[in-house]
Amino acid sequence: MPGLALLRPEPLPAAAARDAAPVVVMKFGSSVLAGPADAPAVASDIYAEVRRGRRVIAVVSAFAGETDRLLAEARALGLAHDNPLLPAYVVQGEERSAALAALACDRIGLSATTLSVRDLGIAAEGPGEHARPVALDRAALDRALDRHEVVVVPGFGAVATDGRVVLMGRGGSDLTALFLAAELGLDHVQLVKDVDGLYDRDPNADPGARRYDRASWAEAKALGGGLVQPDALDLAEARRLRVEVRNHADGHRTVIGAGSAPPRPVQPSRPLKVAVAGCGVVGGGALARLIADRRVEVVGVLVRDPARPRDVPGVSAEALAPLLVSDIPALLDREPDILLEALSEAEAGHALIRAALQRGVDVASANKQAVSRDPAGLLALAEAHGARLLWSASVGGGAPMVEALRAARAQGPVAGFEAVLNGTVNFMLERLGDGASFDAALAEARAAGFAEEDPSSDLEGLDAAAKVRLLAFEAFGVMPDEADIPRDILSADSPPAGGARQLCRCRMDNGRLVAEVRLVTDAMDPLFAALRGEENALKVIAADGSAVRRRGRGAGRWATAESLLADLSDLAARRLALRNA
Ligand code: NDP
Ligand code: HSE
Repeated sequence: MPGLALLRPEPLPAAAARDAAPVVVMKFGSSVLAGPADAPAVASDIYAEVRRGRRVIAVVSAFAGETDRLLAEARALGLAHDNPLLPAYVVQGEERSAALAALACDRIGLSATTLSVRDLGIAAEGPGEHARPVALDRAALDRALDRHEVVVVPGFGAVATDGRVVLMGRGGSDLTALFLAAELGLDHVQLVKDVDGLYDRDPNADPGARRYDRASWAEAKALGGGLVQPDALDLAEARRLRVEVRNHADGHRTVIGAGSAPPRPVQPSRPLKVAVAGCGVVGGGALARLIADRRVEVVGVLVRDPARPRDVPGVSAEALAPLLVSDIPALLDREPDILLEALSEAEAGHALIRAALQRGVDVASANKQAVSRDPAGLLALAEAHGARLLWSASVGGGAPMVEALRAARAQGPVAGFEAVLNGTVNFMLERLGDGASFDAALAEARAAGFAEEDPSSDLEGLDAAAKVRLLAFEAFGVMPDEADIPRDILSADSPPAGGARQLCRCRMDNGRLVAEVRLVTDAMDPLFAALRGEENALKVIAADGSAVRRRGRGAGRWATAESLLADLSDLAARRLALRNA
C-alpha cells in the first residue's frame, strides 16, 4: 500500500508569496502572424519571455489581408466607409487572431487568456476609423494579469465615449501596444516584426541596407517605411517609451528611444546546423517546428530504425528519409552546431551527449535519465570543449522549472522544494478518480505521448526521482542518490484515494539532502491539488520563507518540444554572439 503521509524531517519555513512577475508588452503584426500557421511561432516568443520570469501582454493584429477582407464585406452592403458600426465588425479580425494565439500558448502549457476590444478598456476619441487613445480602464486587464501568465489582446480597436467600437488608424496595433505600456507605467515595448530591426533602406530590396542598433524616435519617424506606426512613435516620444524592434529570432533588436548611433552594415550569417536525436513524441515535435524555421538547417535525425513510419506534422517521408541516421558517429559527422537530444534510452542518450560535447557541439536534452546520471561531469566536459549543455526540457515538460530554480537561487539560498513532476501519474490519478480502470488510464497516457517508452519508470517514481535529482542539483549543487529517494508505486493493486498526487519533496536538512517521491492525499499546497491532466508544478521555498511557484504542461509533444526549442534559442544566441565577437 503506498504511503499516504509525507516524510517531514522538519517543517519547511512558511511560504510567503514573492512579488508578482514583471509585465512586458509584446506586439505581433500581420508580418509575423500572417495566418493560423504562425501562431506556434508567436507562442514561442511569448514562452521565451515567461521563461525569463515575466508576464506577457501580447497585442496582435489581424491575419494578413483579414482587415481588408472584413472592410470589403461590410462595404459590400453599400454603406459609407465611415459608417459608425463598421469598426465593431472589423476588429473581429484582431479578436480572432488573439484567440488563436492564446490557444497556441495553452498548447505549450502557458496559462493564457484573451480580452475583447470592449473588455480591454481603451477609451478613444476622434474619427471612428482614426481615433486616439485617451484613457485605460485597467480593471479587466489587471484581473487577467493576476490570474494568467499571458494575456493576448486585440490591437487596433478601442471604445468611444458613446460606447461604440472605433479603430485607431492603419497600423493601430502598434499604438495599442505603446499606449498600454505607457498606461501601465512600463518603460519599453517589444514590436516583433519580420525584420530584425530598423534599416536605413528596405533590407529585402537592398542587401546593402545598414541596420541601426539605436535610433531616436525622430529618426525612426523620418525613415518611415511603415515599420512602426507614426502615431505610435509620437506617443512613444511623448511618454519617453523605448521601442524595441526585433524579429522572432530574438537576436538583434533596434532600440528606438532617446539615444541614437549611426547604422552599420550587417554581416550575412549562415543558418545554424541542428541535429535532432530521437524522432518520437518529443523529437518529432521539435523537428516539425525546426523544418519550417529558416534560421536553422536540420542536418540529421538519429533513430533506432530509419524504416519505421514517422509522425512529424508537415514533413513527408520523402523529405525525412535523407535526414535519418541510426548511429552516433553518422549523426555527428554531419557537423551540427547544436544537438537536440530526445532519445528514450538513458545509456544511448548519455553516450551521445558526451560524444557531442567532446566535439564542441552544444546540446539541449530532454532526457532526464541521461543528464541526471552525472550533470556536474557533463557540464565540466562541456566547458572543457567550449560547448554548452542545457536540460530545461528534462524537468516539468513545458513548465520552466529549471529556470525558476536558478532564478530563486540567484536571489538567495534555497531551503527546499515541493513538486509534482510526472505528467503520466498526474493524468492517471485524475482518470482513476473519474472511474477509469488502471489499464485504460495507462493506455490513455501512453496514447497521449506522456508515458515513457517503459512506463514502469513513471509508475514506480523513477522518472520523478531523476527530476528531483536534477532540481536538487540546481538548488543545492549536489544530488541525492536515487537509492536514497524513497518512492511510492502507483499500481493497479493499490490505487490511492481520490485527489491523490505524486508529490516530490526535497530539502537540505543540516547539510544532508532529504528527498522523497510519495503518493499523498492531504497536507499539500493548493497549487498541487489544482493540477489537471498532465500538468506539473513546482514550489521553491527560499531560506527567507518566500516561495516561487511554476505550473505548466509537464509532458506531451508540444510543451516539451517548446522547452527544447527555447534552449536551442539560448544556445543559438550564444553561438551568434561568438560569431559576431
Ligand atoms: P519516444 O519513445 O516517443 O521516442 C524516442 C526516440 O528515441 C525514438 O525515435 C527512438 O527511435 C529513439 N531512440 C531511442 N533509443 C535510441 C538509440 N539507442 N539510438 C537511436 N535512437 C534511439 O520518446 P519521447 O519522445 O516521448 O521521449 C524522448 C525523451 O524525452 C525521453 O528521454 C523522455 O524521458 C523525455 N521526455 C519526454 C516527454 C514526453 O512527454 N514524452 C516530456 C519530457 C521529456 P525509433 O523511433 O527508431 O525507435
Ligand atoms: N513520462 C514523463 C511524464 C514525461 O509523464 O512526466 C515528461 O518528463
